[in-house]
Amino acid sequence: MNDLNVNYDTSIPNNVGLADDKRVLKALEQWHPGYLDWWKTMGPEGFQESLVYLRTAVGVDPKGWAQFGYVRMPEYRWGVLLAPQEEGRTIAFGNHKGEPVWHDIPGEYRAMLRRLVVIQGDTEPASVEQQRHLGATAPSLYDMRNLFQINVEEARHLWAMVYLLQKYFGKDGREESGELLRRRSGDMDKPRMLGAFNEATPDWLSFFMFTYFTDRDGKMQLESLAQSGFDPLSRTCRFMLTEEAHHMFVGESGISRVVQRTCEAMNEAGITDPHDVEAVRKLGVVDLPTLQKKANLHYSLSLDLFGSEISTNAANAFSAGLKGRYNETKIDDDHVLTDATYPVLKLVDGKPTLVDEPALTAINMRLRDDYTADAAKGVERWNKVIAKAGVDFKLTLPHVAFHRAIGEFGGIDAAPDGSVVDGDTFKQRHDEWLPSRDDGDYIHSLMHPCHEKGAYADWIAAPKVPIDNKPGDFEFVQIAA
Ligand SMILES: [Fe+2]
Ligand SMILES: [Fe+2]
Repeated sequence: MNDLNVNYDTSIPNNVGLADDKRVLKALEQWHPGYLDWWKTMGPEGFQESLVYLRTAVGVDPKGWAQFGYVRMPEYRWGVLLAPQEEGRTIAFGNHKGEPVWHDIPGEYRAMLRRLVVIQGDTEPASVEQQRHLGATAPSLYDMRNLFQINVEEARHLWAMVYLLQKYFGKDGREESGELLRRRSGDMDKPRMLGAFNEATPDWLSFFMFTYFTDRDGKMQLESLAQSGFDPLSRTCRFMLTEEAHHMFVGESGISRVVQRTCEAMNEAGITDPHDVEAVRKLGVVDLPTLQKKANLHYSLSLDLFGSEISTNAANAFSAGLKGRYNETKIDDDHVLTDATYPVLKLVDGKPTLVDEPALTAINMRLRDDYTADAAKGVERWNKVIAKAGVDFKLTLPHVAFHRAIGEFGGIDAAPDGSVVDGDTFKQRHDEWLPSRDDGDYIHSLMHPCHEKGAYADWIAAPKVPIDNKPGDFEFVQIAA
């Protein structure tokens, strides 16, 4: 079997030669029933018997990895898929720069690697849990299908991390694999490991914001892990990135369709002031100021996922060759960073100010900056939709100091423009800057299911981009009676 083809003969589709690796195959087979239990109890609520038009990977080469067809979700072929091995790949950064990549775990980095894999692994099932109630209020079958596609793929990403744990980390790996099925998003006693993955995703607007902003954090983390000197991790992450792109597409196009529908409805009704929230809401669409507040929330929660700006853990993972920077190989420097500096935004005399810090300890800050630049592009595209409709409004990303729980700005209150304010001011203006209870109630009131073929809820425009060349009135989900 070559690297590009997936073996479907074992119970677990894979391109890692599981049929010849009895120990790992057995470990995964033992984990499988618990996984299916988790999927049935914590995966999408309802619709498990429905036929969903899903893509399944049949190969990891650019042409072969997406085969579309109707599948019942519990019968989805979750598998273990790694991007092809690159001949002669060497470590691109850190103290081992230039050495051949590792195909097994370097003993001295075992604990650090295990932590990286477990943290990444924990986010995957968490988002499935967060999104499990959304099928019932899907604004169309197209959207429902996209939700379920993301859910099965996040679950496959869990498989990807569990494979690494089972194959390379022995008894510890088995235990961690079990724990990944035991933690629960938002659970007081056994929460998921990272903050944003314990927040609720109560409605479809939150879902689109989450897939735009939080899946994009996932992309940045996977990009840096794809640089890893531990080759199995790199290959796993490279394949996961191909799937991740779809998740961010769903977020970006979802928000774009909401923006478009709002502007259309305003134009039809002759409303020119986007800040006249009451008038816009009478049209049954999402007013733009509320969209801005939702963006403020999801962006700030996602920034916290990058950890502290200054981090010795991040420096150690970089120097060890385990986790690189975004586009590491394209960066024009020595990739060791012994003497380099990087400008870090810090609070100096009560003002966010750039301060040069050793680049090694500022790895998180750099990744977060790359994330911000990436996230800003979609916001600009949303603004083009607004401008084209002739509406006078601009969505923006808030300042990174706004509404933070972690890092340099975790302990202060700041306005969306980054100016530091006192706690009372923040409380008073909270509902201007972040979604209020009232906003949440309003969004909730729009969430009626629209499950007829080719129909779309009133608050969202029909998509422009088809799935697998299928038009918008294709029956993306055949809902079981
Ligand atoms: Fe994922
Ligand atoms: Fe994702």
